[in-house]
Amino acid sequence: MVSLIYVSTATADLTPEDLAALGEAAAAANAARGITGMLAFNGEHFMQLLEGQDAAVEALLARIAADPRHRDLVVIRRDVRPAREVPYWSMRTFLTPLNGAGAATEFAARLPATFAADTRVVFTSFASIKRELA
Ligand SMILES: Cc1cc2nc3c(=O)[nH]c(=O)nc-3n(C[C@H](O)[C@H](O)[C@H](O)COP(=O)(O)O)c2cc1C
Repeated sequence: MVSLIYVSTATADLTPEDLAALGEAAAAANAARGITGMLAFNGEHFMQLLEGQDAAVEALLARIAADPRHRDLVVIRRDVRPAREVPYWSMRTFLTPLNGAGAATEFAARLPATFAADTRVVFTSFASIKRELA
């Protein structure tokens, strides 16, 4: 099982509705290919976890990297793991600007208990770094 995390920069304004539509289309396509994961968007950057069989994940990554809705995709983790962290999420989206005391703690609490410690830290850091929607 390959577990991959990348970050990228959005090329255009994406509304919460756009993000939801992207997530729904991704979830339907991923379910057919045995891909699971999570997509966070902070108004400017994406962070996505993709997990599945090696060839399926790499083929999807190539398609995603070519998508004009974002640029400068950087893979920050590519790991072989014994089990999926989010076996029940074909693709779950989170809009992540966090405002106010306690917001990061709340966000972290919404992350699945099945997340590995490093995955939890990297997504919580991503969510904490930007405070307002772009
Ligand atoms: C940030 C981001 C994340 C995406 N995640 C997925 C995904 O998890 N699964 C998926 O099938 N498409 C995802 N897409 C959409 C793909 O880039 C692409 O549009 C889609 O797979 C259709 O590709 P096709 O037109 O070559 O069939 C994502 C796009 C963006 C911008």
